[in-house]
Amino acid sequence: MEALSPLEKKLLIELQKNDGKIKPEKIDMELVKVMNAAAWLQSKGLVKTSENIIKEYEITEEGEKFLKEGLPEKRILKDVEKIEIETLEKKFGKKDVSISIGWALRKGWCRIEKNEKNYLIITEKGKEEIKKKQPEEEALEKIAKKDFNIDEKIIKVLKRREAIKEKEKVERIIYLTDKGWEIVKKGIKIEEEISQLTPEIIRSGKWKKVKFRKYDIKAFAPSIYPGKLHPLTQLIEKIRRIFSEMGFKEIRGSYVESCFWNMDALFIPQDHPARDMQDTFYCKKPDKIDIDDELIEKIARVHENGGMTGSIGWRYKFNKEEAKKALLRTHTTVNTIRYLANNPVPPAKVFSIERVFRRENIDSTHLPEFHQIEGIVYEKDANFCMLKGILKEFYTRMGFKKIRFRPSYFPYTEPSLEIEVEWQGKWIELGGAGIFRPEVTIPFGIKEPVLAWGLGLERMAMILLGLNDIRMLYFSDLKWLRELPLLI
Ligand code: PHE
Repeated sequence: MEALSPLEKKLLIELQKNDGKIKPEKIDMELVKVMNAAAWLQSKGLVKTSENIIKEYEITEEGEKFLKEGLPEKRILKDVEKIEIETLEKKFGKKDVSISIGWALRKGWCRIEKNEKNYLIITEKGKEEIKKKQPEEEALEKIAKKDFNIDEKIIKVLKRREAIKEKEKVERIIYLTDKGWEIVKKGIKIEEEISQLTPEIIRSGKWKKVKFRKYDIKAFAPSIYPGKLHPLTQLIEKIRRIFSEMGFKEIRGSYVESCFWNMDALFIPQDHPARDMQDTFYCKKPDKIDIDDELIEKIARVHENGGMTGSIGWRYKFNKEEAKKALLRTHTTVNTIRYLANNPVPPAKVFSIERVFRRENIDSTHLPEFHQIEGIVYEKDANFCMLKGILKEFYTRMGFKKIRFRPSYFPYTEPSLEIEVEWQGKWIELGGAGIFRPEVTIPFGIKEPVLAWGLGLERMAMILLGLNDIRMLYFSDLKWLRELPLLI
């Protein structure tokens, strides 16, 4: 009871006065306020509301004319025994006469005689009826007084004659429930209550005297779903923030890349399975991207015999045309090698969070388009321990507690590692990392160690959002999106 607002109390009192049942419009309060109070009382189980669609009618211009002048079939037959139709038409107009004769004939008030000319002859019934008030007229008078208790047949006729228009209205009724009765029977008194403490109340000292309304902390509150960023976008924002806070700068690349930058520059041999049409999307337009001849030559030598890197290379014949092929980048390591090629002077700490493409069949754990969180640290004395430290720090900041590293292999790093996090008792691989090999760094004049990593975003998102289907991230399921709490 103490948790009821004055409006709720007022509504309860009105309900009690009206035997527990009332139409909201009948209450001397603004309708929105009544409905609002009713909704709150309903959530507390004290009232119930019902809604009925009821039909109401409105008199049209034509209907008003009927009301004022009487039905037209009455008018044209007035003082008539037998009359030439043409004469009537001259007096009342052709259209009105034809409509009126139609209704008069249907009602048996007249008949038509056809000689050289057409005559209208009134019947005995017609003579009687035109003196009386007709059911249509009575109905219109009732409608004018907002009394809609009218025979369905007459309504039909009036609608057909376009004398009335139908309108639908919702009729609401508020009822007291048994619990509501219990409360009102105890007696409700309305006193001035304060529901919000303001600086004025404190300053004036009024707070000592006033009565505060108690909060009902169990009261129902409607859920609201304001616009918010998509969970993946939120995660990207969070990751951006983490790397920025760790002193990294963000870089960007392009979807379309050459084999040269995506693979050759990273010392991925040209017969590597990842280059297969099965795994990589090659582009038709453009199908080739020009690369500086000297640069290709240098990388060709690295692949063939190690060139100036001290390596013996892959020992095969490098195909320069192959290097120019255009493709959709398969990893964002292409962003970092390009950055290093343009900025060979250390130190550098950069990252990118961008989309990559692989020819994967879509299923609950695979998507052909996904994001990678890529990064490098390029500085004197950078080492493998630092790499592990950075990755551990990143995943810890993302909220993972159990993280482990496993030895791994990539053609462009040595040593290499794989990072796994524990989820539901299982170790899940989230990405790879390592230190760029001399075959990658030396041709670009990179002189200090480069720690590099490429981590999957969607897999991590699945874990953080508790999804067992990766596709959910792209389904746009509104209910899921609405109810998902904010991540940042
Ligand atoms: N490019 C690798 C991948 O796509 C990840 C990686 C990046 C590994 C950088 C080592 C160094 O899985």
